[in-house]
Amino acid sequence: RGKRAFIAGVADDNGYGWAIAKSLAASGAEILVGTWVPALNIFETSLRRGKFDESRLLPDGSLMEITKVYPLDAVFDNPEDVPEDVKANKRYAGSSNWTVQEVAESVKQDYGSIDILVHSLANGPEVTKPLLETSRKGYLAAISASSYSYVSLLRHFIPLMNPGGSSISLTYIASERIIPGYGGGMSSAKAALESDTRVLAFEAGRKNRIRVNTISAGPLRSRAAKAIGFIDTMIEYSLANAPLQKELSADEVGNVAAFLASPLASAVTGTVMYVDNGLNVMGVGV
Ligand code: NAI
Repeated sequence: RGKRAFIAGVADDNGYGWAIAKSLAASGAEILVGTWVPALNIFETSLRRGKFDESRLLPDGSLMEITKVYPLDAVFDNPEDVPEDVKANKRYAGSSNWTVQEVAESVKQDYGSIDILVHSLANGPEVTKPLLETSRKGYLAAISASSYSYVSLLRHFIPLMNPGGSSISLTYIASERIIPGYGGGMSSAKAALESDTRVLAFEAGRKNRIRVNTISAGPLRSRAAKAIGFIDTMIEYSLANAPLQKELSADEVGNVAAFLASPLASAVTGTVMYVDNGLNVMGVGV
């Protein structure tokens, strides 16, 4: 049997989640995705209308199939967590079973088990504010959506992950080096995500033989990155200063995710793997 992957954080064909889905599909995996509830309608409509067909193309000439799209809001673990205003929101009321626990239950009911779990989502409402100007609420929201969401996903999906399975998230160098502009507690959230990768690797490894790694990716002009506002500067900076002077393509990150999910990486766990044209090893710009 081929492997089955659940990828949380796919809502268009520009981001890392989409590229990871493609690389996993190219290596023979069945693809399930979790899409943020407010983005669900437009994503499903675009898929259905063939808007993504060109970018569904796999190296063998076939098109990536997404077996099922699950609505997901990873800041809520179960229905009791959902505040009334969200419940009443039109976009949310139109879907059901989108808390983390319910999505895991639905996937279990539909398919029984998965082999690969991917977390490719982040949100920081105050990301454009420097840390010194970030409110408690904004900081905690960044951590909730970008870090705890991963603990929660893994926690709820581990019971349906086959032993030997693999889990991957996406992080950014702003966790360990100063990247002015990556504010709102997002740098803190990525630091938590990387630290949690190590602890979760230990716990999930010992308990269920699951590997846990994170990819520290270079800059990509995704929807989320455009919202931060400095992505073009980051791409130019990387082009000018990285050991490899080429633009990073999302597929390069997708391919490393496929490697990490494969038996080729069977002894790799707890690591932060840089896929950034080598920019992280530079000490000064040149
Ligand atoms: P993206 O916009 O394609 O992906 C982010 C996804 O998160 C979106 O689909 C959004 O709908 C979803 N999302 C936001 N809040 C959510 C929630 N509460 N529940 C469920 N889904 C939610 O953008 P991108 O850049 O591909 O982001 C994917 C990951 O890659 C993120 O963790 C990001 O921090 C990371 N990353 C991105 C870099 C870049 O330059 N684009 C660089 C390094 C890391």
